[in-house]
Parts: sequence; structure tokens; C-alpha cells
Amino acid sequence: MVEDSKVSGFYKLTREERVKKLKEVTGLGDEDLEPLVNPGKVDLEVLDHMIENVVGAMTLPLGIATNFKINEKDYLIPMAIEEPSVVAAASNAARIARNLGGFVATDTGPLMIAQIQTVEVPAPYAAKNRIIEVKEELLQLANEQDPILVRFGGGARDLRVRIFDSKVGVMLVCELIVDTRDAMGANAVNTMAEALAPRIEKITGGRVILRILSNLAEYRLVRVRATFDKELLGGAEVVNDIITAWAFAEADPYRCATHNKGIMNGIDAVVIATGNDFRAIEAGAHSYAAREGYGSLTKYEIDPNGNLVGSIELPMAVGLVGGATKVHPVARACVKILRVKTALELGHIIASVGLAQNLAALRALASEGIQKGHMALHARNVAATAGARGDMVDTIAERLVKEKNVKVERAKELLEQLKK
Ligand code: MEV
Repeated sequence: MVEDSKVSGFYKLTREERVKKLKEVTGLGDEDLEPLVNPGKVDLEVLDHMIENVVGAMTLPLGIATNFKINEKDYLIPMAIEEPSVVAAASNAARIARNLGGFVATDTGPLMIAQIQTVEVPAPYAAKNRIIEVKEELLQLANEQDPILVRFGGGARDLRVRIFDSKVGVMLVCELIVDTRDAMGANAVNTMAEALAPRIEKITGGRVILRILSNLAEYRLVRVRATFDKELLGGAEVVNDIITAWAFAEADPYRCATHNKGIMNGIDAVVIATGNDFRAIEAGAHSYAAREGYGSLTKYEIDPNGNLVGSIELPMAVGLVGGATKVHPVARACVKILRVKTALELGHIIASVGLAQNLAALRALASEGIQKGHMALHARNVAATAGARGDMVDTIAERLVKEKNVKVERAKELLEQLKK
């Protein structure tokens, strides 16, 4: 059990020391962490069975975000991403959030939508009614496709029918709502939709074409809020400017695309680390953000004490069973680090990271700009590459930035001088 994710100075440790610390804090052993510590040793046979025409693997850096407290539980969060600053920024925002209680997360349950597109329907409104009249029978037919899901408490829950005009005429779209429990659920709901199609054709007298899930998973939402201490953010003016930065995103799609991209920096990194489908999450997030004209996935307000309150709401179709999460050794190790029990809990974590990431970006943008932080982090990496350890990393990094000469060669010279 992670008692405390506040592992101070984690960034100053060597990679080996970080792994040691990770083991200490999570109670995991060498064999648990082996796949991510030695990614080169991941069995290509496993990957060969995941996709087609495999010739090798593409590895990404995997970092650990610290300081996260979500629903009173501490988490060390694995993030797989190629972009510098993201892991540090998330950890920093989580440090501020935990000061006033951390993140509070809820969800609407793991309800996925599958669509059955029907065309050439005579009298579509009457056909819609006929479908609804036999809804229970259709739900039962859907559930017969996945007795295991039903045994675990999931299954088809509801069915809705929409009729709309399209470029090629009227369409009747039957939408099955399925509780997919701890699975992302794509296979389960697609199988159900395919099984229902012949019945829908018979009932409607139309022709079914597509039978596929919707990534706009509007019944599978996660909501997270957190309060960020105004002093830790840098004062009332910074708080105001963060709100103004958020209002810019809400008012302008050009800014909003970048604002939401920053949120997805955090979200995708955890989604990838846990072997989930980041394209599904991206599609869900942006289509949800565009329901009433493209807007921000986050909201910001000031509480009566002058602190900043941030919230996020988005679809979160992630799973813990099935798919790469169960097969890929690194994803399995990441799930162990997180110690999540349900896919919903994983969704809470992912959305919290999204909120933290957005707050960190807005704070930097609304104050010193992001380049300063980027440069400082880059300098730290350069100092570490040159062989600096412990406090020397920061000392050398500060000198490199001051001298505007962030180069490994210079870091080595400084290291030699300091050693003397
Ligand atoms: C960079 O990957 C993300 C940011 O551009 C996000 C933002 O502008 O809010 C910093």
C-alpha cells in the first residue's frame, strides 16, 4: 500500500535509486518491476501476438508522478511519454492540490454505447416504437452474447433509438447501453451490436450497415475536482490570471485546442502506461468537449477563501481486463504500481492527472511562461547526464541556466570544479 506518494527529491535520485524507492514505497519486488526496468528484455513473442507484421518494439520513457492523493488514497503514477516537463508538472500540481485535500473523483459507471445504423426504414417513427416495445427481449439477446460479463455484474442495461436526417436520407440508429465493468468493452459491445442487427432489420424492415461502439462515451464519465492553495500558486494575481487563461480557451477554439492538448499530455501518458487505447480516450475527450461548440474539458473558479478550484469532466473508457493491459508486461507492472482494483478507480486517477497537468500548464503560462521551467528541467537532465548526483544536480543545473550554456561538456567541467 502506498502510504504516502510525497516522495520528496525523487527527481534528484539516480534511476537505480528511484527504482529502489519505488519498491520501498509500493512493496513491489524485482520481478514485478523487471519489465519496466529492463524493457529490452520484454519478450518479443508477446508483442508479436498483439499486432500484425511485428519486427520489433518502440520504447518510451516511463516516469513516475509523485504527490497524488485521490479520494484520500495516495498513488505513485506511471506515465509513458516522450515530452519533457510533463511528469514534473503533474507532480508539482499534485503537491499543491494535496495541501487542501487532494483530488476528489466520482464517475457515472462503466457504461458504453454501441450503435446499430439502420437505413431504408419504412415509417421510421413507428419502427422506433416497435423496437422500444421489445426492448427487454433485445437486452436479453445482447446479454446472451456475454455470459461472463453478466456474471461479473455487467451487461446490456438500456436501449435508445434516434432518428435523424443525413446526406443520404433518414437514418434510424439504435443505441445499446452496456455496463462493461472492468473491461474497456469494445469487443463486448461490438459483439452485442452485431448479434442484434438481424432482429433490428426484422423489426424495422430496414437494412443495418454499421454495428460499432461510440467513442463519445457520454455515460462513462469521470468527474474530478481539487482546490489549489492561492499562496502555493503564487498569490491572488496568479489565480486571477489562471482563470483568465482558462476563459481564453473557453472563448477561442485555437487556444482551446492547445489547452485541451495539455490536459491530454497527462491523460495519454497514464493511458499508454497502462496499455489502454489512447485514441479512444482522445476521441472521447475532444468529441465531449465539442458537444456545444468546442470548449475546455476543465473549469476554474475562485472559492470564498480566494483559492483556485479546478474541475474536469470527460468520458473515460479504460479497462483493466483484456487487451494490452493484461498482456503487455510493462502495462501489467504499471497496474501493480497503481494498485488499482477497478477500471473506474483507474479512470479517477487518469482524469486527476489531466486536471493536474492543465493547472500546471496554466500556472506556468500565466506567470513566467513555460520555457523557463522547460530550460530548468533540461538543465537538470544535462547535469545528471554529465554524472552529477544528489544536490549537485540542482547546483550545476542552476549554473548552466545562469550561464545560458546548457551543454553536457560544460556540466562536466562544473562537476570537476565542484568535486575539487
Ligand atoms: C505543451 O505540450 C502543452 C501546453 O501547450 C498546454 C497549454 O498551452 O495549456 C503547455
